[in-house]
Amino acid sequence: MSEPSITILPETLDDAAAIERLHERTFGPGRFAKTAYRVREGGGHRLELSFTARIGTLMIGSVRLTPVRVGEAKALLLGPLTVEPPFRQRGIGQALITRALAEAKARDHRLVILVGDEPYYARNGFKRIPKGRATLPGPVDPARMLVCELSDGAFVNVAGPIRPDRDAQ
Ligand SMILES: CC(C)(COP(=O)(O)OP(=O)(O)OC[C@H]1O[C@@H](n2cnc3c(N)ncnc32)[C@H](O)[C@@H]1OP(=O)(O)O)[C@@H](O)C(=O)NCCC(=O)NCCS
Repeated sequence: MSEPSITILPETLDDAAAIERLHERTFGPGRFAKTAYRVREGGGHRLELSFTARIGTLMIGSVRLTPVRVGEAKALLLGPLTVEPPFRQRGIGQALITRALAEAKARDHRLVILVGDEPYYARNGFKRIPKGRATLPGPVDPARMLVCELSDGAFVNVAGPIRPDRDAQ
């Protein structure tokens, strides 16, 4: 029997509860104390830049993008990225990132940052942020602070604290 196909769709308001359960299963209650979580909560993610992966009606993965500032520069913070354990190693995580980055680029966003494993995200063009150039309001391993330029040179001359962008349109 052939495998059912996987669809990647923009997140909707109706997805909130299922995504919350996915985050609870994946990251547990410790997620609320994470530095990146605190920045995300300060602004709120953008539904049109956030995506779910599904098999039929079953949600099996999610990625979110949240507007932030790095210093004065506008950027998007990627995460959380989660794929349900039975569906990992099939390219779904990569597909979610690829779709989110493409949509961000199509909407003229120039920078995406995240806190995560460089070997994984390097596949999508993320590179380590030079130590000290961008700071988060809490403890983070600097080797896990990554940036992806959606347009050439977008990160040149960008530096400063990362904070929620409450004025983002
Ligand atoms: C990380 C995660 C989203 C990957 O999802 P996925 O759908 O399995 O990823 P893909 O199928 O697109 O990619 C799998 C590849 O990435 C590699 N990979 C997965 N996690 C990795 C990591 N943390 N570091 C380096 N490589 C990693 C796998 O070994 C595999 O490599 P291969 O293609 O050479 O076999 C998933 O494992 C997950 O939900 N993990 C828990 C939550 C998490 O850590 N999220 C990221 C931080 S926000």
